[in-house]
Amino acid sequence: MKISIIGAGYVGLVTGACLADRGHHVTCVDVDLRKVDAINIAKSPIHEAELDAILHRTVGTRLGATTDLASAVRASDVTLIAVGTPFDGQSIDLRFIRQTAMQIGEALRDKPSYHVVVVKSTVIPGTTLEVVAPLVAEASGKRVGVDFGIGMNPEFLSEGTAVADFMSPDRIVIGGIDDRSRDVLARIYEGFESTPILRTNTTTAEAIKYASNALQATAISFANEVGNYCASLPDADVVDVMEGVHLMAELNPRAGDGRVRAGIAKFLVAGCGFGGSCFPKDVKALVADGQRRELSMPLLSAVLETNRRQPRKVVELVRSALGDLAGRRIAVLGLAFKPDTDDMRESPSIPIIEGLLTGGAMVQAYDPVAMPEAKKIFEDRIVFSANLSSVVAQVDAVVLVTRWEQFRAAPKLLAAMKPAPIFIDGRRMLDRDAFAHYVGIGMGSTKQAEGELA
Ligand code: UDX
Ligand code: UDX
Repeated sequence: MKISIIGAGYVGLVTGACLADRGHHVTCVDVDLRKVDAINIAKSPIHEAELDAILHRTVGTRLGATTDLASAVRASDVTLIAVGTPFDGQSIDLRFIRQTAMQIGEALRDKPSYHVVVVKSTVIPGTTLEVVAPLVAEASGKRVGVDFGIGMNPEFLSEGTAVADFMSPDRIVIGGIDDRSRDVLARIYEGFESTPILRTNTTTAEAIKYASNALQATAISFANEVGNYCASLPDADVVDVMEGVHLMAELNPRAGDGRVRAGIAKFLVAGCGFGGSCFPKDVKALVADGQRRELSMPLLSAVLETNRRQPRKVVELVRSALGDLAGRRIAVLGLAFKPDTDDMRESPSIPIIEGLLTGGAMVQAYDPVAMPEAKKIFEDRIVFSANLSSVVAQVDAVVLVTRWEQFRAAPKLLAAMKPAPIFIDGRRMLDRDAFAHYVGIGMGSTKQAEGELA
């Protein structure tokens, strides 16, 4: 099929590259010329595993990029909208969606054949039907459901594994205003027959995405709340407690002679909170939309509140370990909101570092790939170190914020230092017994003391 994708960000570009790799002809459209130029020389503008390799295979044959939205739309059968949908503090900001819908409509004015416009961006339920469809109709002068179709096809890509998630999806949701729209959308996913495919209306498709994100975010805040409770007990540790919880049959069912781990267990790990482009913004947008509909959502409001407090717990741990933050030198390991990405959006590293700086600490940080993005946020207020060994040099404390695999080298590095700095594990990633002085989120006071004595 001939597909145009508007917005070549994390979602649009991964989707475009993967669809091209599966044999479709794809044009990615973006207002950012630097992104377009990078894609056209097969260089990914974002750090995402396997993406460069796919661009090499497809750019110039089945994949191209342009800033010319109208031509790309007219030359395709279906257009996917993957522009950002930020949360503006009050509700989801649909400015880019509206603008894109109007531009697509204008482009369709002179296109004689049937076309399907599909929303891939995460949008509040009702948006595709009530905002996108009328805007495309008005700008094109054409009839919804007759001259053009409308679809909604949410993405379930996790950054860092986005290409693998696209190629082996857990489900495909084909939302549409009618069967004709859904049939066109389904053709994009031919070859994925072993994957469960759900055909729904557009509002249900939108709600599936929000409900999925909200469930995962709830699991994380649950684990963090349990962790905070464990920390208030003298002799409990959230890692041991959750190990026991994870063994319940619902999370670890018996299969044949062995056991399988339910995927949701991946979101039941205590840490310094969730970040990224999805969970914080989408749960906030959902609660705000509930309010607009005069529906309070106390559970999801609490999920957000627990998450807002979580980075502060790390700052409190550093403060109680060091006494006073003023003038102390602190190393931060990891800046990205999670490993294997350079994405800094809503990363817990931001409030943690801001809290340390407010307390008067001197912060030096290291992240394997996110430092260029982080420099845009912190500028020269913190020192960016070249590698793991230089970031920990001459510090009073080391704070782990992101689970990068290479941080497994930290215990050995710190053991060689005299005196060894205090290690504060914001993700409970490393073995507490591997450090002379370990403090972890979700550990009771005796457990923390055991860490000191070890
Ligand atoms: C996506 C979805 O769009 C969002 O709704 C979902 O919740 C998370 O993932 P993402 O791909 O991460 O967003 O966003 P971003 O990386 O910001 O990419 C958006 C791209 O659209 C940018 O490259 C931007 O330049 C482009 N854009 C934006 C346009 O081309 N036109 C516009 O009018 C606005
Ligand atoms: C998420 C979902 O995983 C994906 O299915 C959906 O389509 C988009 O949102 P992503 O935001 O890329 O993907 O990252 P994810 O791996 O889910 O992590 C999100 C955040 O939660 C990270 O900051 C991570 O550190 C944090 N997290 C995750 C926890 O704090 N504890 C956990 O147990 C799991």
